[in-house]
Amino acid sequence: MKKSDSFYGYSLILAFFMLFLAARSQLITDFYKTSCPNIMAIVRREVQNAIKIEMRMAASLLRLHFHDCFVNGCDASILLDVSDGEKFAGPNLNSVRGFDVVDNIKTSVESACPGVVSCADIVAIAARDSVLLSGGPTWKVLLGRRDALVANQSGANTGLPSPFDNLGNIILKFANVGLNLKDVVSLSDSLIDALYRRSYNWTI
Ligand SMILES: *[C@@H]1O[C@H](CO)[C@@H](O)[C@H](O)[C@H]1NC(C)=O
Repeated sequence: MKKSDSFYGYSLILAFFMLFLAARSQLITDFYKTSCPNIMAIVRREVQNAIKIEMRMAASLLRLHFHDCFVNGCDASILLDVSDGEKFAGPNLNSVRGFDVVDNIKTSVESACPGVVSCADIVAIAARDSVLLSGGPTWKVLLGRRDALVANQSGANTGLPSPFDNLGNIILKFANVGLNLKDVVSLSDSLIDALYRRSYNWTI
C-alpha cells in the first residue's frame, strides 16, 4: 500500500465521522467551553501517552469509537461492564481494546472537571486524536453526547460487521447506519491496516 493510499483512507474516515456527527446537529464544538476548558489538552496528552507505550493503540481507539457508534449511536454503551454488555458481544469480545486508556483519560478529566464530561465525548475525541497523532488529518469534534445507561448486546451482535460476514453483509451493515462502500473500505481495511503496519514499522 502506498502512503498516499493511506492518506486517502484517512480523508474517507473524516467524511465518515462528519456523517455520524451531522446526524446529531444539537452537538457543538465548544460544549465544555466553560465547564471543562482543558478537555482537549487532557485527552490529547493521555492519548499521546498511550500511543507512546503502544503505537497500535491509535488504531484500537478508533475502532472502539466505530464499534460504539454502530450500536444505538455514539453513546459509550460499549464501555458498560454488564454481563449482557456490548463489550462481550461476538464482534467485540477479546478484540476491542483501549478500555484502560479510556479509563485513564476519564480519571484525568474527572480530576479537572468532576461530573461534567461524558465518556461518549471522550471516546470521540480520543479517536480523532489517535488518527491525527498517527499522521492522519484532523477534524473538529462536535460535543455534548450523553452516555447510555444500558447496553444493547444483541444489537452489537447483529449490527456490527463480523469477520464471518461475507462482503455483501458487511456492505449492508454499513448502509444500515448511513455509510457507503468507501466507508467500508476505509474503516475495515485501509486505516486499521495502515496504522497497524505503521506501528510495527513495516513498509506501507
Ligand atoms: C439494539 O440494536 C438493534 C440493532 O442496531 C436495534 O434494531 C434495536 O432497536 C436496539 N434495541 C434497543 C433497545 O435499543
